[in-house]
Amino acid sequence: MRVLVLGSGGREHALARALHRDPGVTALHCAPGNPGTAPFAENHQLDPADPTAVVELAGRLRVELVVVGPEAPLIEGVGDALGRAGIPCFGPDREAARIEGSKAFAKDIMAAAGVPTAAARVCETSDEVQEALDAFGPPYVVKDDGLAAGKGVVVTENRAEAAEHAAACGRVVIEEFLDGPEVSLFALCDGNTAIPLMPAQDFKRAYDGGEGPNTGGMGAYTPLHWAPPGFVDEVMASVVQPAVDELRRREAPYVGVLYAGLALTQQGVRVVEFNARFGDPETQVVLDRLASPLAPLLQACAIGGLDPAYRPEWHEGAAVSVVVAAEGYPANPVKGDVIEGLEAADEVPGAYVLHAGTKRDAEGRLVANGGRVLNVVGSGPDLAAARAAAYEAVSRITLRGSHHRTDIAQAAAES
Ligand code: AMP
Ligand code: GLY
Repeated sequence: MRVLVLGSGGREHALARALHRDPGVTALHCAPGNPGTAPFAENHQLDPADPTAVVELAGRLRVELVVVGPEAPLIEGVGDALGRAGIPCFGPDREAARIEGSKAFAKDIMAAAGVPTAAARVCETSDEVQEALDAFGPPYVVKDDGLAAGKGVVVTENRAEAAEHAAACGRVVIEEFLDGPEVSLFALCDGNTAIPLMPAQDFKRAYDGGEGPNTGGMGAYTPLHWAPPGFVDEVMASVVQPAVDELRRREAPYVGVLYAGLALTQQGVRVVEFNARFGDPETQVVLDRLASPLAPLLQACAIGGLDPAYRPEWHEGAAVSVVVAAEGYPANPVKGDVIEGLEAADEVPGAYVLHAGTKRDAEGRLVANGGRVLNVVGSGPDLAAARAAAYEAVSRITLRGSHHRTDIAQAAAES
């Protein structure tokens, strides 16, 4: 199968790596890809959110599957354009991608489908904001209605800060605070049917102990030994399938990965958010564990005919990913600093480095080119071993001013 992966981050490097390992993939292209995908895939410079450019490239390369990594191309209608051109696309059309693109749309789908989530109000005026803050009380949860790459959300005890964020966003969703551990579950969908991958946990805050601002995610691990028995089946039945059914009913069939961000509260599972793409950096650990070939699964979603009874096979053991972030991330990441030590990191048994925000400078040196610069993945027979491998590899990397969390998967490894 000839495959094109759109995007340039750590998630796309992980997707490309898993596709490269799939013996059924005969040609692998990335657009734009990154310096980490260059050694084993063919990188093509292009804006992955430009539907015309994507259709042209996919046609020229005669690919049989386009895998869309980030959300921006989906929101821009890349899926629709590929569909019109008859090229199978793993990723929803624009209308279905609104499940991520608009918090208000997601809440509407959940209400119609009976999916458990936080009570919420959509607010446009400061009076509405004040009323909603009164109604829900602290901690306050204020979300920008638009797309904000996980950074449009403020969770705070400070009412003035909550009101300020609402004023800065315009249209917001204000909701009930959900108290409990978070889990990311990815379901592969063909418009009718959905099958689950392995759940993972992400660490959203910038600093150890859950301190600091929200980020796109600072690390992740899988499996979750502490998840209740039957957890995945319950989420498929109460969250994923009802959402997929509701979107199909609205003639916006959901094709691709539906990412359910969940909180396990005292009252049961609640949806924190839906995303229309794989989570980053959770995908890095989930795909590390995947033993089944990835391409046929993604293709079955894109062309229809996913077998609802099929369950992928997984490697035994555990995986941990640690994000090495640039100085100033998430507020103002500093670009351009040289990265060293990747070869030494890759030599750590059980560890490897995925590129998330890197590029080659004019002299060919590898430099930081984004907030989350690298994802260091470690695996082993258990979480403790996976952590040890990941952190040993991290310790071999130098990037001036960089920071990473030191407590990824620590509590789970010790429990
Ligand atoms: P979102 O972009 O909706 O995933 O929000 C980003 C992060 O903010 C989530 O991963 C949670 O850690 C936190 N968050 C969002 N909504 C809530 C909520 N209702 N209660 C508690 N935390 C939340
Ligand atoms: N890791 C969270 C996300 O991908 O949105």
